[in-house]
Amino acid sequence: MALDRPTPNDLRAFWMPFTANRQFKASPRMFVGARDMHYTTAEGRQVLDGTAGLWCCNAGHCRPKITEAVQKQVAELDYAPAFQMGHPIAFELANRIIDIAPEGIDHVFYTNSGSESVETALKIAIAYHRARGDGARTRLIGRERGYHGVNFGGISVGGIVNNRKMFGTMLGGVDHLPHTHLPENAWTKGQPEHGANLADDLERIVALHGAETIAACIVEPVAGSTGVLLPPRGYLERLREICTKHGILLIFDEVITGFGRLGSPFAAQHFDVLPDMMTTAKGLTNGVIPMGAVLTTGAVHDAFMQGPEHMIELFHGYTYSGNPIACAAGLATLETYAEEGLFDRCAEIAPYWEEALHSLRDARHVIDIRNMGLIGAVELEPIPGAPTKRAFSAFLKAYEKGILIRTTGDIIAMSPPLIIERAQVDELIGTLRDVLDNL
Ligand SMILES: Cc1ncc(COP(=O)(O)O)c(C=O)c1O
Repeated sequence: MALDRPTPNDLRAFWMPFTANRQFKASPRMFVGARDMHYTTAEGRQVLDGTAGLWCCNAGHCRPKITEAVQKQVAELDYAPAFQMGHPIAFELANRIIDIAPEGIDHVFYTNSGSESVETALKIAIAYHRARGDGARTRLIGRERGYHGVNFGGISVGGIVNNRKMFGTMLGGVDHLPHTHLPENAWTKGQPEHGANLADDLERIVALHGAETIAACIVEPVAGSTGVLLPPRGYLERLREICTKHGILLIFDEVITGFGRLGSPFAAQHFDVLPDMMTTAKGLTNGVIPMGAVLTTGAVHDAFMQGPEHMIELFHGYTYSGNPIACAAGLATLETYAEEGLFDRCAEIAPYWEEALHSLRDARHVIDIRNMGLIGAVELEPIPGAPTKRAFSAFLKAYEKGILIRTTGDIIAMSPPLIIERAQVDELIGTLRDVLDNL
């Protein structure tokens, strides 16, 4: 049915992403402003941001340096073709990213989102083997409960059933490791003890398909969107060993762990495990302008640098890869992180965050709590026969009481900006207790 001519307050035309559209439009929640740790609602209320937007505003909101950089850039060079032409700050930003990346990661391929970073990394992995004359390696290994964005490659290697089941057969040649979320690790503070052996399942997959058919294995070092699943001690190290042994590229999806969330620039440094590629987005520009990047080792990049010099080496890229305004936002964001020491700040406040979060252990409905860096999850017992409903009610009540949290299934996930103060941690956790106790 055709819509009436929309009025400014008509909410029907916008089909909202990952949203209960009918519930929202019956009872809208609108943000009209933001600064530092807070959003302002359309009614003029302040809401404490417990999620850094969507895991992206790591330096908080409307930070002056980033705002000014974007304003200046848009007036100076708004757009430059991404293919066969360059502009200086795309190169400068790549260098600054490499400055904070783990030793051994030294090239940057720009995208516009986490999903595009994942597609790009998967394509580079397959093409890398082919460029080296190993073209049978096309199989991709993901993990149950993994989230790698919403494009076809990402949902194929991903493992969240609702993100997959409506969308047909997806990519062929994909297999999945088991997830690492074990009941014996409940209530763990930081990295859990049990489950490193789950990485050995990669050996089973290799035995089943043959290493010579496998291009890459992709995992989130800490899985976020699926409800905060932490890597057991020794697990990532073991995955690295098995991938190296069999010539399989290891991809860390660092879309949420990148840019300080664990107290190091990237999770690769936090866990001291070097992947062959890392996918990033979100915190790269503090969420201000859409941008992502795939970071690779020299070995991956150099495999493509062959053949006649006038030939394009990788037939892949986006109109907005390395967009000047996004690059300006990225540079100003990295400067803000460095000037304010925000990655160290995250590491400093993480123990306080951990204690505050685990103080909810005796709150109503709570069946598990887990944390790392400035990430926290509070898992609720589902209402029998109505999964997700309890957590969604908590989300709505929390918003009414002035805090922004995020839910996935019956898990509350929090990831505040790295500028959060202790008093704001107390406010967030105290309000959440109140919400849970009155649910
Ligand atoms: C690990 C991971 N990969 C990929 C994505 C997708 O990023 P985007 O929504 O920017 O496409 C996300 C988003 O939350 C993510 O957490």
